[in-house]
Amino acid sequence: MPKQTILGVNIDHVATIRQARGTVYPSLLEAVDAVEKTAAQAITIHLREDRRHIQDKDVPEVIARTNKRVNLELAATDEMVQLTCNNKPHDCCIVPEKREELTTEGGLDVIGQYDRIAKATDTLSAANIRVSLFIEPDLEHILKAYDMGAPVIELHTGAYAHHPDDSEAANQEFEKLELATEFANSLGLQVNAGHGLHYTNTQRVAQIDDIVELNIGHAIVARALFVGLEQAVNEMLTIIGNS
Ligand code: PXP
Repeated sequence: MPKQTILGVNIDHVATIRQARGTVYPSLLEAVDAVEKTAAQAITIHLREDRRHIQDKDVPEVIARTNKRVNLELAATDEMVQLTCNNKPHDCCIVPEKREELTTEGGLDVIGQYDRIAKATDTLSAANIRVSLFIEPDLEHILKAYDMGAPVIELHTGAYAHHPDDSEAANQEFEKLELATEFANSLGLQVNAGHGLHYTNTQRVAQIDDIVELNIGHAIVARALFVGLEQAVNEMLTIIGNS
């Protein structure tokens, strides 16, 4: 049977448009309903410290609205860990956050910030929330993530996605993703991936044998402007061989 890669649809940027004008539309819950009609297995949202898109009240509303797994991305701060424990999503992904960044640039500093991230991982795991750590495809970082006891890592695909499709630089970054996936899998970690993936650079990542799940947001919401969210998700599902 061909490989079935799980798709987590990140709907943050529906909230970005809403927050840009402080309106109640576009409705995040309408976005959830559109994703619900597809075979995507998860919905991802990121409650950022600066609340630039997802708001606190969105988190319980999204969880209550969907039958799919909800993956909440969070920074490893006491406030965010507490909020995540209170909301009890199925999954969470600890990500680095810098206030001035456009989006999550780079993976977690699992070496320099080991204690802080390990503490957050322990607290979230104790609340029965499956923890994923968003890291660069780097073997040393994978080992540190493994030491922290998180069952899942999400490999940052930004360096790969940043380069033109099939360029030498993209191919080199792709090889790092393949190597990192194989290594993490050999340690027994579930390997997810995401960031910067779009309609022409995702297929080869989805085809890496041991990549279980891809989290994709910006490209899907952008495509939804022209074809609607349900179709945009379905097109991505076809690309990753899950339709
Ligand atoms: N995975 C993680 C951990 C992220 O922080 C993001 C961006 O919020 C994504 C995946 C999705 O990235 P993009 O919006 O570029 O598809």
